[in-house]
Amino acid sequence: MKQKIVLSSDHAAIELRQVIAKHIETKGFTVDDIGPTSSESTHYPDHGAAAARKVASGAADLGIVLCGTGQGIMMAANKIKGIRCGVCSDTFSAQMIRAHNDANMLSIGARVTGEGLALAIVDAFLGSDFEGGRHETRVDLIKALEV
Ligand code: RB5
Repeated sequence: MKQKIVLSSDHAAIELRQVIAKHIETKGFTVDDIGPTSSESTHYPDHGAAAARKVASGAADLGIVLCGTGQGIMMAANKIKGIRCGVCSDTFSAQMIRAHNDANMLSIGARVTGEGLALAIVDAFLGSDFEGGRHETRVDLIKALEV
């Protein structure tokens, strides 16, 4: 069964988010794009937390969030217990945050990363799996830091 991916962003990344949504839908993923759709200025912590709660509750398998830099929405997502979200602007990191860090969310900066590279980053993230083994010990240590 193909994974369910939740997407969200702030106003700075609506277009890129919608391109990513279409791209992964074409690849057979189930997409839950929770917006926003209006270009009105909005607050990235609200959108990061909303997507993160879907992943943390199991309503989605993985999440992709975007803002101008990818940084603020990543920080908000990581405040939700059970979330491991990394900002990526290269495909190697996108692959490794799945393989070594068992990241369940990816963040991209729409003002940093162009569309072609962003889609390659998304493909690298969704195409990689956690390797477990010694990395599991380290991810467990991250989980132990959660309050
Ligand atoms: C919004 O202008 C901008 O601050 C936001 O998209 C993001 O880059 C924050 O981290």
